[in-house]
Amino acid sequence: MLLICLFGINRELTLIYYYFHHLNYYYIDFKMIRFSTSLIAWYEHHQRELPWRDSKDPYLIWISEIILQQTRVAQGYDYFVRFINRFPDLTSLAEASEDEVLKFWQGLGYYSRARNLYRAAKSMNGTFPTTYDGVLALKGVGEYTAAAICSFAYDMPHAVVDGNVYRVLARYLGIDTPIDSTSGKKIFAHLADELLDKANPAIYNQAIMDFGALQCTPKSPHCSSCPLCESCFAYAEGVIDSLPVKSTKTKVSNRYLNYFYVKQGDFIYLHKRIGNDIWKNLYELPLIETLEPTDENELIRLEPFQKLFGGYSSLSFRLLSKNIKHVLSHRILYANFYEITLPENEQILPDNLKISTAEIEQYAVPKLIHLFLEKYM
Ligand code: ADE
Repeated sequence: MLLICLFGINRELTLIYYYFHHLNYYYIDFKMIRFSTSLIAWYEHHQRELPWRDSKDPYLIWISEIILQQTRVAQGYDYFVRFINRFPDLTSLAEASEDEVLKFWQGLGYYSRARNLYRAAKSMNGTFPTTYDGVLALKGVGEYTAAAICSFAYDMPHAVVDGNVYRVLARYLGIDTPIDSTSGKKIFAHLADELLDKANPAIYNQAIMDFGALQCTPKSPHCSSCPLCESCFAYAEGVIDSLPVKSTKTKVSNRYLNYFYVKQGDFIYLHKRIGNDIWKNLYELPLIETLEPTDENELIRLEPFQKLFGGYSSLSFRLLSKNIKHVLSHRILYANFYEITLPENEQILPDNLKISTAEIEQYAVPKLIHLFLEKYM
């Protein structure tokens, strides 16, 4: 009797559980349908006019997506226009020199994007891949970029998942799993695929990007004018500022750079950065990097200083600019700039490139160096 009773209660409980569980699913389903229709309706009124959106050309879309990987639209816009004016198709990019491509990238930062772009262009032999896997295999293209290119250019049903998408979904559906955890990545990728309007993947993906960039912004989102606020979890619960959740903080290290603006008659010196480090293949002034901040008295005693400048009969040396702070994504740079004048008729500076001041325009230099040269040259 007792057993039957327990079985009966369990059955009831199970049924009640399934009932609510399914209700919950229906609720999420309902929220999802509402989400994509509202999003696309919002986009029709608020979309940004952007040059890469006028085209279905995968090459142009690829260039725009690589530029926009770590760059805001407002900054990337002019770079895109200049870049495609000079390199209007795959062949023109593949036939250029890497130095020229980097020059067109100067100031955008994250220069590995430009180097990868160039290598990918050379690898394609004039034909852009037409499958998702083919696009994903290109150097510098990850899942996000492949989804963007394939949906925009070929109307393939691949959902984009970038910072904007994480934010919008985490807030709307109330998901507090860290977006940088393995499980978080899986959950968000799954939801993004479920939500994608498979009949209109290009419009849906553009819409969610613009919605995240313009409406559901990281700070002070515009909830009072949001078409989704009534069904938004974060809005209802007052947790907008705490979603999405990120588990790790990026570790930032300090670096100390001592640059030399070396003059010799009408010439100056540049140095090409090689090796796997920041600004690979860009040009800079001759450099001595130290582990700690250094002043000129310490600097002139260092071995690399003696190696560079020890062989001259005389040199004039003065500090031009001190402790210039330059912030990169994982590093804070502190730079000192010194002017050094070498005797005109003596040897050239070892391991550096001697150029006339007029030639400097041809070389891609990091922003830190560009700002210095603009001020002092
Ligand atoms: N950010 C990345 N890709 C974008 C695109 N295609 N339009 C607007 N913003 C973007």
